[in-house]
Amino acid sequence: MSEIIKGKKLDFTISDVNEIYEGPVGILWEMLMGEQIHVGGAKETDILAEKAGINKLSYILDVCSALGGPARHLAKKYQCKIMGLDATQKMINEANKRTGKEGLSNFIEYKLGNALDMPFKARTFDVVWGQDAWCYITDKDRLINESFRVLKNGGTIAFTDWLQVGNMTEKEWEDLNNFMAFPYMETLEGYAQILENIGFKIIEKEDLSEDFAKHCHMYQDILRNNLKDGIVEKYSQEMFEAADGGLNLWVKAADEGKVGRGSIIGKKL
Ligand SMILES: C[S@@+](CC[C@H](N)C(=O)[O-])C[C@H]1O[C@@H](n2cnc3c(N)ncnc32)[C@H](O)[C@@H]1O
Repeated sequence: MSEIIKGKKLDFTISDVNEIYEGPVGILWEMLMGEQIHVGGAKETDILAEKAGINKLSYILDVCSALGGPARHLAKKYQCKIMGLDATQKMINEANKRTGKEGLSNFIEYKLGNALDMPFKARTFDVVWGQDAWCYITDKDRLINESFRVLKNGGTIAFTDWLQVGNMTEKEWEDLNNFMAFPYMETLEGYAQILENIGFKIIEKEDLSEDFAKHCHMYQDILRNNLKDGIVEKYSQEMFEAADGGLNLWVKAADEGKVGRGSIIGKKL
């Protein structure tokens, strides 16, 4: 039977995430998407920043900051202060190195930690920010609760994420999530409900799935036409085939309206 699948989780943990982002898969994501590891790169960061009302006075927490690409982009554009939180040491090290090289260390700090237990005091940040990463998080209610706790009153939560947007079979759900090592994906409505239950007012929610499908095709073309030889040479034919097979599942599911992407802006009143 094909349906929206709720309440089911795959047994991925933070150590699976660490293994991915310490190893070749993490490198592959940067090769595909650039150092801002999310759909649409800098353009999407600008759109989210505009919606979130980022300015010079904003103190932003980027939850799952990875290589710090978005943080550096925001610091350069707005001269705002940013704290990046990520659970993978290699990402923190790389983010620090690149931020130092660009002379942005006065604006950005990075901290190793889990989004489910944020190492920050209550009411610290003006904005909690996330781009295409919360799909890795095993408990979205707790993540949003932590975001609410660390935001100042009147603060903004602004994020994009990969979503379950249409009916699928259990087998499709498992294959899609397994390939990415996602425990599960939320729906846009599911996220909105969690935010409201925790006390956020939803300012805007947008389904970006059409654009997501276009980007999935673009990433598939890049993988096949530009990256294949390099991956085979540096790693192996099997590695290329695994990446291509998994990405193909996602391209198909995106075309069929089963998976997608969305953005939400909320306020802590
Ligand atoms: C797709 S990347 C994030 C990309 C980044 N937001 C950007 O736009 O460049 C996913 C990141 O999430 C981090 N991550 C996953 N689960 C986490 C958790 N529970 N707490 C903190 N970081 C986590 C990983 O270590 C990885 O660096």
